[in-house]
Amino acid sequence: MIILAIESSCDETSAAVIANGQIQSNVVATQLIHTLYGGVVPELASRAHQQHILPVVDQALNDAKVTKKDLDAIAFTKGPGLLGALLVGTSFAKALALGLKVQLIDVHHMQAHVLAHFIDDPKPAFPFLCLTVSGGHTQIVRVDSPLEMKIIGETRDDAVGEAFDKTAKLLDLPYPGGPLIDKNAAHGDPYKYAFPLPEMPGLDFSFSGIKTSFMYFLQKQTRENPLFITENMDDICASIQHTLVDILLKKLKKASRETGISEIAIAGGVSANSGLRQSIKELGDKLSWNVYIPAFEYCTDNAAMIAMAAHYKYLAGDFCPQTVSPMARMEF
Ligand code: KG4
Ligand code: ZN
Repeated sequence: MIILAIESSCDETSAAVIANGQIQSNVVATQLIHTLYGGVVPELASRAHQQHILPVVDQALNDAKVTKKDLDAIAFTKGPGLLGALLVGTSFAKALALGLKVQLIDVHHMQAHVLAHFIDDPKPAFPFLCLTVSGGHTQIVRVDSPLEMKIIGETRDDAVGEAFDKTAKLLDLPYPGGPLIDKNAAHGDPYKYAFPLPEMPGLDFSFSGIKTSFMYFLQKQTRENPLFITENMDDICASIQHTLVDILLKKLKKASRETGISEIAIAGGVSANSGLRQSIKELGDKLSWNVYIPAFEYCTDNAAMIAMAAHYKYLAGDFCPQTVSPMARMEF
């Protein structure tokens, strides 16, 4: 069973081929144009997807050494994401499936981030908890089987990736700032500056307050010393990263205690963060968790994870009609 999968939810155009559950290729074209504007410009993203989609799909098929005639299904990201960007992948997948007379499979982007854990070994055992952290989401998901997932905690305002990127902007770092905070933090002292942690009941998160306190802190310090940011960049980044990771891990610890689950995974763009990867490993050793961290290439947006989710949907006979629109049937 061979599936071609397409991801186009934000600023990465990606295509992957999976054969009998094994990834054969994964091509990602990152849209660099957004760096000029300090964030993703939706209309430019749609246009760039249109430019990239054909060469990216061709390369994915070539790398996998298959032709269109070998395909049994075409999968695409149905959402969440930017509507115009999703439309490019959705229309392309629908047209190709119609032309080839093969099945069409719609995939939930966040479910795919979780299922990225089934690309390589070791794979988590069910049930497991997955901290799913990206530019638009911050969730703790209880996963009972590949297609049975329940969100047991989530952010009530900003996502943690957004907190990384917006704070990076205050530090005059280019978009996307998350990876740059990570890079600078490697040389800094994470305990140099302390920030008050948000109080949020249950397993939910909040990042808007902490973002504001980073802003007030930086404004106050630069009033006293205009060179404060440049002189202390590494320590500032390390302290901010440490604070954000601390918020995530406190809730994850609580979720593990409440559910009795100690198979713990992280997924999504922010799971590429070295502070989070290191801290969750240390916490896992302390609490006897089995911790699962995806390879870097499967943390940020990619079509391999869409292909993996599509593989399970194909096995379950869960196909989608040609009439589906992006963002339709957004439930997990
Ligand atoms: O999953 P993803 O590629 O796209 C969405 O679905 O949103 O996640 C993108 C987010 C951005 O906010 C980006 O800054 C963040 O992941 N990110 C990081 C790192 N790499 C990517 N944040 C902190 N440290 C990193 N190393
Ligand atoms: Zn994503």
